[in-house]
Parts: sequence; C-alpha cells; structure tokens
Amino acid sequence: MRAIISDHLHLEGALLPILHALQNACGRIPQEATPLIADALNISKAEVHGVISFYHDFREVPAGRHVVKICRAEACQAVGGNALAEAALARLGVEWHGTTGNGAVTLEPVYCLGLCACGPAAMVDGKVHGRVDEVRMAKLLAEAGA
Ligand code: FES
Repeated sequence: MRAIISDHLHLEGALLPILHALQNACGRIPQEATPLIADALNISKAEVHGVISFYHDFREVPAGRHVVKICRAEACQAVGGNALAEAALARLGVEWHGTTGNGAVTLEPVYCLGLCACGPAAMVDGKVHGRVDEVRMAKLLAEAGA
C-alpha cells in the first residue's frame, strides 16, 4: 500500500488517483490505508474517509464476483427502470451496494449508462445491456450465479 501511495504523490489532486490505484490492486480500499493516505497527503483521516464514502465506486469491502449496475436515471425510470430495480433488489435480497450471500453479485445503482434511448439499461461487469426487462434481468443474474 505504501508503494502505491508514494507512486501517486506527485500527481495534482493525488487522493483520487491513490484511491483508484488501491482499489484496482486490492479490489477495495483497505481500512488500514486511510491513516497512511492521510499522513502522506497531510490531511485528516476523516477527509479521506469522506471521499471514500462519497464516491460509491470505492469500496471498503470487496465486491461480489460480478457487479451488476441498473440505471436509475430519468430516461430509464420513465420506461420501467424503477420496477426493474425493485425486482432485482427483491430477487437478490440485497440493498443497493449489497452483495448476495453467495458472493456472486453486487448490485449497484448507476446514473446513466449512455443507453437512454434503449432503457431500461443495465451493466454487468462493464458490459452494457439495453431494454432490460425483468425476465432478461433474471437471466443475467442467473448467469452471474445469483
Ligand atoms: S438514463 Fe438510463 S442509460 Fe441514460
């Protein structure tokens, strides 16, 4: 962790690059990184923690083996995104940012995937899917092992 932090100290606004690099390396931001980052950047641990908790893409616990994101923005909501989201949450038995008990799927909200004309939109492990209805979502979740 110290090496990752020091490799990014020269960057302007080094906090976000450090957090991204740690998450890429560890799959999460380890709690023990917070004081190291705070010391290196001469900021408080609370500031580091505030940034980590503000950006939902940063995790303090590892994500599931698959990350499913459902678009919660307006255009998708207008064509059934809310029902799709509620069905997925119920099917998985998780809250947003939660991971299924078997560790297979983490479900996250996202605010526009650039597929507004083909909503509701979802993303599975970085691959976008348009016109996702509940049946298609159930299939995607099953394929992910949920
Ligand atoms: S509003 Fe859902 S993809 Fe843009």
